[in-house]
Amino acid sequence: MLMVDVCALGDIPDDGALRVLVGDRAVAIARCDGAVYAILDVCSHADVPLSEGEVSDCAIECWLHGSQFDLRTGVPLSLPATVPVPVFAVEIQGEGDKARILVADASVSVPGPPA
Ligand code: FES
Repeated sequence: MLMVDVCALGDIPDDGALRVLVGDRAVAIARCDGAVYAILDVCSHADVPLSEGEVSDCAIECWLHGSQFDLRTGVPLSLPATVPVPVFAVEIQGEGDKARILVADASVSVPGPPA
């Protein structure tokens, strides 16, 4: 799987996300519990960037209508969104704030709608 170097660990805000490009796709990079996650930077409810929302408890919140998406799976945790957002594999190379973040150039999980 092609992995793309997108940023340094220290570039990612603590309570928000960093918008990067992986190929021609915008991806939001965020931290949670010492790990780093990558989720497509487009809300599944309307075409707005998730990276402009806040990150807490391993979820990113859409600023427009407030749906939260699990950073690990892309599954929406609250309405009005009902469709998951694709997520991408992440690799961390190195240590500390200068560690490089690599993101897969293809989604790894497009889960079905919540049961
Ligand atoms: S546009 Fe994201 S919840 Fe409506």
